[in-house]
Amino acid sequence: MSPSKRSQPKRIVVTGGAGFIGSNVVDHLAAGGHTVFAVDDMSRGREANLSRAVDSAGVHLEKLDVRAREFRSFVRTVAPDVVVHLAAQIDVRRAVQAPIDDADQNILGTLSVFEAARGADTQTVLIASSGGTIYGEPRKLPVGEDARSRPTTPYGISKRVLHDYASFYGAAYGLRTVLLALGNVYGPRQDPYGEAGVVAIFFGRMLRGETPVIYGDGSQVRDYVYVADVAEAFARAMDSDVAGGVNIATGKGTSVLELFKVCARTVRYKGRPSFEPARLGELQASVLDVGLAARTLGWKPKTGLAQGLKRTAAFLSE
Ligand SMILES: NC(=O)c1ccc[n+]([C@@H]2O[C@H](COP(=O)([O-])OP(=O)(O)OC[C@H]3O[C@@H](n4cnc5c(N)ncnc54)[C@H](O)[C@@H]3O)[C@@H](O)[C@H]2O)c1
Repeated sequence: MSPSKRSQPKRIVVTGGAGFIGSNVVDHLAAGGHTVFAVDDMSRGREANLSRAVDSAGVHLEKLDVRAREFRSFVRTVAPDVVVHLAAQIDVRRAVQAPIDDADQNILGTLSVFEAARGADTQTVLIASSGGTIYGEPRKLPVGEDARSRPTTPYGISKRVLHDYASFYGAAYGLRTVLLALGNVYGPRQDPYGEAGVVAIFFGRMLRGETPVIYGDGSQVRDYVYVADVAEAFARAMDSDVAGGVNIATGKGTSVLELFKVCARTVRYKGRPSFEPARLGELQASVLDVGLAARTLGWKPKTGLAQGLKRTAAFLSE
């Protein structure tokens, strides 16, 4: 189903709109006929990610920090029907090193978004939460939304606490919030030079002829979901009347060693990985139960790992 067939045109602010997932969400929503305003402080975002959307779909890019008063005034002026909040500091290791900065960006940044929505009488806020970190080390797999939540890093704690703030804003001010707890997202525009995003980092190194590094023994299992499927989940959450946390992933686990092999096959890389000690706070396994998304949003991941990796490699080779 194309988004244009099911959705009345809306005014939408997408924070973090020049980033990896944000720009894919902007493209998807603009293609559905919505009026989209991307907000990004450009700390990691790139204008190139949005150039097509700005040139051909009339998307407006506003360079602002979501914590700033100017951001809240901007949202009041735009008066959006929906805010999609993706702006965040996304580096789990940096959060371990600098928890105050992480909380400032990810908790206070989101409170500023909630306050902006309240000030603009916006009905709905969609938030990128993190299925890979909010639950902590799971007792059983796949992890459902009602699993015990014991995040092991400041990043996971920040994302977890947003679920409680969202409930508060729902109860106190009638704001509908959906927190999409994403698995490990990969796909075009992910930064291959960054600290996060193992797929982009593996491909980046393989395509440059460098040796990819595996932290730990490579048996850690993650749930890799393709970014276009994630963008579709945001569109569906927007058009639904669902509220609360919903896992968005595939329900399938892939070890880092397996991932290395499929990536290497995709770009015909013949080398071997090097191994370094496991990182602090890293989980052994994370696979998410995506039954709630299927039941409430009619959403299922469409893109298999091999297919998604092929598309990602094609993008990175261009
Ligand atoms: N990539 C994943 O696998 C994954 C998994 C779970 C959750 N998430 C969440 O999805 C969201 C998007 O992540 P991404 O992978 O696209 O990362 P990204 O770094 O590409 O996107 C984040 C964007 O937010 C912008 N930004 C950061 N702080 C800002 C601020 N204070 N004000 C305005 N803009 C700001 C950055 O410039 C960047 O463009 C984040 O909330 C992240 O926590 C990502």
